[in-house]
Amino acid sequence: MKILVAGGAGYIGSHTVKALLGEGFDVVIFDDFSTGKRDFVTGGAVIEGDLMDAAAVRKAFRTHDIGAVLHFASLIQVEESFRDPQRYYRHNLGTAMNLLEAMFEAGVRRFIFSSSAAVYGIPQRQPITEDHPVNPYNPYGVTKSMVERILQDYDRAYGLRFVSLRYFNAAGADPDGILGEMHDPETHLIPNILLSLLGKKPVLGIFGTDFPTPDGTAVRDYIHVTDLAAAHVLALRSLLGDKPSEFINLGTNVGISVLEVIRAAERVTGKPVPYKILPRREGDVPVLLASREKAERVLGWTPRLSDIETILRTAWAWHRKSV
Ligand SMILES: NC(=O)c1ccc[n+]([C@@H]2O[C@H](COP(=O)([O-])OP(=O)(O)OC[C@H]3O[C@@H](n4cnc5c(N)ncnc54)[C@H](O)[C@@H]3O)[C@@H](O)[C@H]2O)c1
Repeated sequence: MKILVAGGAGYIGSHTVKALLGEGFDVVIFDDFSTGKRDFVTGGAVIEGDLMDAAAVRKAFRTHDIGAVLHFASLIQVEESFRDPQRYYRHNLGTAMNLLEAMFEAGVRRFIFSSSAAVYGIPQRQPITEDHPVNPYNPYGVTKSMVERILQDYDRAYGLRFVSLRYFNAAGADPDGILGEMHDPETHLIPNILLSLLGKKPVLGIFGTDFPTPDGTAVRDYIHVTDLAAAHVLALRSLLGDKPSEFINLGTNVGISVLEVIRAAERVTGKPVPYKILPRREGDVPVLLASREKAERVLGWTPRLSDIETILRTAWAWHRKSV
């Protein structure tokens, strides 16, 4: 039995494929390499194709004996989702629907979904538990919550079993130095700090220093991508053990401000990080913190590499070598 990893050549997908291979799973990557990298394929079979192509997706299930699906392949730029929501609804819903339909046709009923803290919108309380109301603010987050709704309906109607993993801020790089984070455009803080230190990006911008936080910059919950990958393996084992469907946050419940990340980057790299202060971006909230109680209780997951120094050390090692 093989595990189909849709978007397995991307940042989080490739780290998860490496973790699955390390645990002895047989993996098939389905990716169109639109944002994924060929260098990020560390093993398994590869189907190069577009998940929007329903026939190609069905063919993958006829060619391989698939037992479960992990779906990472979505469009992920929040600002772009405001500018071009049609593209986001079409892609993020279409890819999930095509996978689910092909799965059912092949009798496969286990699905792990890359969801996001964006489903919660503006938080009413911290840390955020999974029973916090779902009220996404941006179209990207709406696509994630819509897929979550589809999953619930398909669970009731067709016996789908899913784990929807709501990631907070994924960061860091594979400790073996093989994989790392490289989006284009890059909107995430840590790679942008490192790219500016490497002279690949202009001076770093900080969006807002007037938040109601101790130093005025936004506080986020950073989770090491290898810890995220490990959680996917645990979620898969849970589904293979016939456990029920779940929504689970993946974060650490440790908040780090933008300025604290910059100071930590200076310690790790030994270089000063020049920055300029810009206005707040619309929709950015002061603090986002995950409760990790459910991930620990249901999956037996604990973060091991998610302290900010390890995140930065692994990311810096990869960036210095690969960018
Ligand atoms: N990076 C984060 O901090 C973060 C936070 C919350 C949620 N997520 C979610 O995690 C998932 C993975 O994010 P990432 O940062 O690894 O993104 P990524 O862009 O690096 O990876 C996406 C992968 O999907 C592939 N893909 C996209 N469209 C495809 C299509 N139509 N057909 C086939 N393959 C396709 C890309 O080539 C790429 O390999 C996304 O669903 C994202 O919404 C990420």
